[in-house]
Amino acid sequence: MARLGTETAFEVLVKAKALEAKGRDVVHLEIGEPDFDTPANIIGAGCEALHKGFTHYGPSSGLMELREAIAQYVSETRSVNVSPDEVVVVPGGKPIIFFSILALCEQGDEVIYPNPGFPIYESMIDYVGAKAVPIRLREEMEFRLDVDELAGLINDRTKLIIINSPQNPTGGVLTKIDIDQIAEAIGNRNIMVLSDEIYSRLIFEGEHHSIMSIDGMKERTILLDGFSKTYAMTGWRMGYGVMRADLATQLSRLMTNSNSCTASFTQIAGVEALRGPQKSVEKMCAEFKKRRDVMVAGLNKIKGFSCRLPKGAFYVFPNITKTGWPSKKLADALLEDAGVAGLSGTAFGDFGEGYLRFSVANSIENIEKALERVDAWTKKNLK
Ligand SMILES: Cc1ncc(COP(=O)(O)O)c(C=O)c1O
Repeated sequence: MARLGTETAFEVLVKAKALEAKGRDVVHLEIGEPDFDTPANIIGAGCEALHKGFTHYGPSSGLMELREAIAQYVSETRSVNVSPDEVVVVPGGKPIIFFSILALCEQGDEVIYPNPGFPIYESMIDYVGAKAVPIRLREEMEFRLDVDELAGLINDRTKLIIINSPQNPTGGVLTKIDIDQIAEAIGNRNIMVLSDEIYSRLIFEGEHHSIMSIDGMKERTILLDGFSKTYAMTGWRMGYGVMRADLATQLSRLMTNSNSCTASFTQIAGVEALRGPQKSVEKMCAEFKKRRDVMVAGLNKIKGFSCRLPKGAFYVFPNITKTGWPSKKLADALLEDAGVAGLSGTAFGDFGEGYLRFSVANSIENIEKALERVDAWTKKNLK
């Protein structure tokens, strides 16, 4: 258990709530979830499903209706042919990370993963006793990975490569060329790719490209996507993996051993999410873009902060090295003294030092309030 890591966002949320309980006002920019309500048509479908009796166990890999809808959606959006037996529905995107690493990796294996990156990757690689091999994401590369560097990290022990685009925490988005070159670097080696595409519908500039679309990569890709971010359904707990049918059978067995199945009525709501109107997704994305612009412009006016415009997801990742403060100490001070909850870049790995992560999943009014507070704090505390 000592090897298992955590997701700091949940710890900071608890700390911020404790300050609020003492009467302090805190602007929450720490947690990565849309502040919007789940669209009404999806809630309606979930309620109706409850009344219709979708209150029982279902198949471990997910209800056929939903796996069919996912197979169709992924086939259309990634230009591949996916069948329902290649889909595993799980409670959130996270279990796909957990199960894939558990199923594929053991001591002696190496796993390449983005750093800074979603902390669960490193946590799970360490947990199963495999070797975590970070690929550093650099600001000067707009936080896309350097494919030459990736090629240099691949060896005979590499079992799995994790990529994530749009990326948490940097908002970096891999280009079509990046994806092509990553596939080229892997060549015909027997290496699996876990492609975390949970933010695939939250792109502000450019388009989403999946490594699954590349000839010869479908068999070696586990695609992770889900409902949490796209449809503001974080609390419903539903996501999915798309992978070779033989591997899908193994992941379903992990589901049988852990959760039995994802909640049945939730899955019916998932069918409505995928097949119903998509206007709310576009609306949320446009709103996140507006907030991103306000946040980045504001941060760039604050002493010691500089921030690139992220191309996707709903985070900004300002460089704070010119403040002279280490990231964790600065994040703590901003929460405790200024009432602004954000995360230290180091919550996403060692290469996150020198950065903070703020989520823009909050109103423009609150974002402006946070900017004023950070600005006032820096004026008071930085020489
Ligand atoms: C990159 C990435 N992958 C996966 C997840 C997990 O999403 P879910 O809440 O659906 O488990 C998150 C959530 O923050 C994420 O940022």
